[in-house]
Amino acid sequence: MAKGLDVGTMNLISAQQEGAETVFVQQRNSFVEIEYSDMAEQMLSRSDVLHIRKDDKVYVVGDDALNFANIFNEETRRPMQHGILSSEESSAIPMIKLITEQVVGQPDHPGERLYFSSPADPIDSKLSTLYHEKTLESMLGDMGYETEPINEGMAVIYSELANHNFTGLGVSFGAGMTNVCLSYYAVPVMKFSIARGGDWIDEQAAQATGTPVDKITSIKEDDFELDFRTDVGGVEGALAIYYENLLDYVIENIAREVDEEDVEEDLDVPVVVTGGTSSPRGFEKLFEDHLQEASIPFSISEVQSVSEPLYSVARGALVAARSDEEQEDDGENARQAQGSSAED
Ligand SMILES: Nc1ncnc2c1ncn2[C@@H]1O[C@H](COP(=O)(O)OP(=O)(O)O)[C@@H](O)[C@H]1O
Ligand SMILES: [Mg+2]
Repeated sequence: MAKGLDVGTMNLISAQQEGAETVFVQQRNSFVEIEYSDMAEQMLSRSDVLHIRKDDKVYVVGDDALNFANIFNEETRRPMQHGILSSEESSAIPMIKLITEQVVGQPDHPGERLYFSSPADPIDSKLSTLYHEKTLESMLGDMGYETEPINEGMAVIYSELANHNFTGLGVSFGAGMTNVCLSYYAVPVMKFSIARGGDWIDEQAAQATGTPVDKITSIKEDDFELDFRTDVGGVEGALAIYYENLLDYVIENIAREVDEEDVEEDLDVPVVVTGGTSSPRGFEKLFEDHLQEASIPFSISEVQSVSEPLYSVARGALVAARSDEEQEDDGENARQAQGSSAED
């Protein structure tokens, strides 16, 4: 067997094949620190809350962090920011390790293949992805996996463009980042990231309307639509404005990068948009409209959205891991066949 892992700023998601089905396990990439107390002890002992205790502090991680934060009146904290391990969070590594262990579990056998998503270097910030990638690689390696990073945009291509010979433009709109990859017959010809995504929209809308960020995030995730009919001056109006601004910013950067990379001009490729931030109804249409207005030097055959935008990256990482494992098995079989024919 093999596994795929999407290492995201907001969600850690693993994918694994069980028969004909792909099974996903998901946790929020978040934690909260609370004082150890009788009440905390009671709450923790009653359920299967993921946590560790350290002296007089308890760290609750993953999906339960938000509930505990509300009850104990604390803020949740996040191991990652803008797509990579946060340099401002001293507990980032032990916390992400705990969540990862829960999400991927133990390897089925020593050296099981695990591909994990890793962002391309952002073009609009000084952040480097190297330290993040190497840290995750060694963490997963310590757990017994044979690991390989896969570019997040490329994972989208593996997941969604198999029926187009893995040719097209994949765009993953996450929380901390947006990742873009142009692939030609499964070879990445251009990849980059942008250090803006859903978090950026939330922060901007919060500032503009004087609303707490968490409140904005809930409103956005709860049935918000990009129809531009609603709410001038309200939160939904502000969300729509920053959504549109993010799309334009991403498209502008795609046009510029394609130009700089001298991508072949007679290409005609599909575009896939995915990631949690692409969830609201109207997103794909808005992206398509704005893409048409932009001067992209090759032609776009269609803009596709996906049915489960949160799972594309994990699924793509799994596809890559399985294909690697099969090649290894084929090689092994060929060697054995050769060995036995040589003995004959
Ligand atoms: N239904 C939804 N509508 C709008 N935004 C959503 C929805 N569900 C999730 N999101 C947003 O998607 C982002 C998380 O998506 P994800 O692809 O998991 O990002 P990452 O990989 O960076 O963790 C967050 O900004 C979250 O608020
Ligand atoms: Mg993700």
